[in-house]
Amino acid sequence: MKKHSIAIFTALAVAAISGQAQAKNDAPEWVSKAVFYQIYPSSFKDSNGDGVGDIQGVIDKLDYIKSIGVNTLWFNPMFSSEFKDGGYDITDFYSIDKRFGTNADFKRLVEEAHKRGLRVCLDLVAGHTSDQNAWFLASKKGPDQRYSDYYIWPDRIPDDVKGKEKDQISGVIGEDSFVKTDSGRSPFYIKNYYDSQPALNYGYANPNPQHAWEQPIDAPGPMAVRREIENIIAFWMDKGADGFRVDMASSVVKNDPGKLASIKVWQDISSWYKAKYPEGVLISEWSNPKESSAAGFNIDFMMHTGKYNFSSLFFNKVGGEFEPQVSYFAKQGKGQIKEWYDLYTEQYNATKGKSYISLPTGNHDIQRLNAGDRNTLDQLKVTMTFFLTMPGTPFIYYGDEIGMKFQTGLWNKEGSQGRATKNRAGSRTPMQWDDSKNAGFSTADYWNLYLPVDKDVNRPTVAKEDKDPASLLNYTRQLLTLRKDSPALSADGDWKLVSDVNQPYPMVYLRSSGDDRYLVVLNPSEQPRDVSVAALKVKTAKLMAGDNTQGSYKPGDQNDAIHAGAISAQVYKLD
Ligand code: NOJ
Repeated sequence: MKKHSIAIFTALAVAAISGQAQAKNDAPEWVSKAVFYQIYPSSFKDSNGDGVGDIQGVIDKLDYIKSIGVNTLWFNPMFSSEFKDGGYDITDFYSIDKRFGTNADFKRLVEEAHKRGLRVCLDLVAGHTSDQNAWFLASKKGPDQRYSDYYIWPDRIPDDVKGKEKDQISGVIGEDSFVKTDSGRSPFYIKNYYDSQPALNYGYANPNPQHAWEQPIDAPGPMAVRREIENIIAFWMDKGADGFRVDMASSVVKNDPGKLASIKVWQDISSWYKAKYPEGVLISEWSNPKESSAAGFNIDFMMHTGKYNFSSLFFNKVGGEFEPQVSYFAKQGKGQIKEWYDLYTEQYNATKGKSYISLPTGNHDIQRLNAGDRNTLDQLKVTMTFFLTMPGTPFIYYGDEIGMKFQTGLWNKEGSQGRATKNRAGSRTPMQWDDSKNAGFSTADYWNLYLPVDKDVNRPTVAKEDKDPASLLNYTRQLLTLRKDSPALSADGDWKLVSDVNQPYPMVYLRSSGDDRYLVVLNPSEQPRDVSVAALKVKTAKLMAGDNTQGSYKPGDQNDAIHAGAISAQVYKLD
């Protein structure tokens, strides 16, 4: 038996003996109850007055984070970096960047978080490094040494690639993936994102024998890269981390449109991981839960990238912007849900019982929910109701719980001028804590801040919202308490759209688990709306969250009649 198979067998045997569930791609039990809070570390809390967030700042705010009702943190990369892509260009995977602290600070963060029942996940940038990473500098020097084949060194741009752009959905590389270099070793290397991010070599799905640089996925170079990734994982797991979100997980193997080879690579790594760290979670940036689930991931995002995304609900197109005339969650009420519904249900049905889908409230790459004229408390409550009552794993992006606003007109900060989404800086501005200098983020002078703080005198802050029972923060807390206490509203509860997919306002869905049933009504539009749904055989419908002062739910023999006030959400418990 190979090392990996022995390990998997042992894990299964241990689970069988202890009676532990082995569902959800062997996810540990806690994952079914996980609610994540994403922290962009440069912008969360600065403890030493240099204008940039740090680990001590996060430690100082753990009690607040806990108070929201989340139980797991995910940090964007905190490793040594050139910061030409917000930390996604790593120079040393084994050390915390000095701007954030030290490896010892990370251990302290984990200890302090664990004390409070919060888990800590990191970002695994598996697909590429910085061009200043020591592996790349060594690889550049030529063949026949340890890091030679950690990267891909084409000797030319082949004719069939010339003039073609990388395909953003399939990941098939194009001429724009070849970066010119004067390294002496080879005139080109293959990059993943920016030119300064050379792709690590996981091989090609079908290497072309005419292209000497295209290696099979099990060649020595690609295999050494896989083992290095495992070393990185083990290094941080052994320091107390609880798991990883894997950056661009779907695109590690080159020219792999069906993703079978990438799936194979991740099956290898994830089976090793599950055997060694059965309490750890693996989350993918893949945007195709069916595929990522087969690869062994426990959670996958459906968001702005890939075919399976939620763009039509919040933006105008993949990687796009809030556009009132087409986004479903807009007060104009001109959007549709059909496109998202078809993509979502296909993925939901295929992965149910195997892995979780996450519809995050936002992230460091996409516009915040509070953008353009989607900016009132009621509007944000409707969107928050959606995110926290859907099945799968919620991820709250820092600041979304208080309704922080997407900032327009910002400059390019550390690569924030993304390839698809232009102004990523607008979603990365400092967290707004209170009314003190720089909204309590930092004591530094304005020009030393990582990015400017929202200047609006009425900007939301934690301090203000904490005191206001009607705030978005307290609404978020209320929804998370409800979710925690209800099997129907949990990650595993069933989900069914009961309103007509072609009549999207209001959107009405049922969450259920045995006798526990909740009905969620969402009307983002500024027109009150009526809808009739097939009778749900309800004796009482009790409003548990949201506002039905302008709305009502009337159970009937054949049909139930629902009236939803303008821009409102209701969560009813059905008995
Ligand atoms: C996805 C990350 O979310 C994004 O911020 C980054 O720029 C690219 N991957 C490249 O690493």
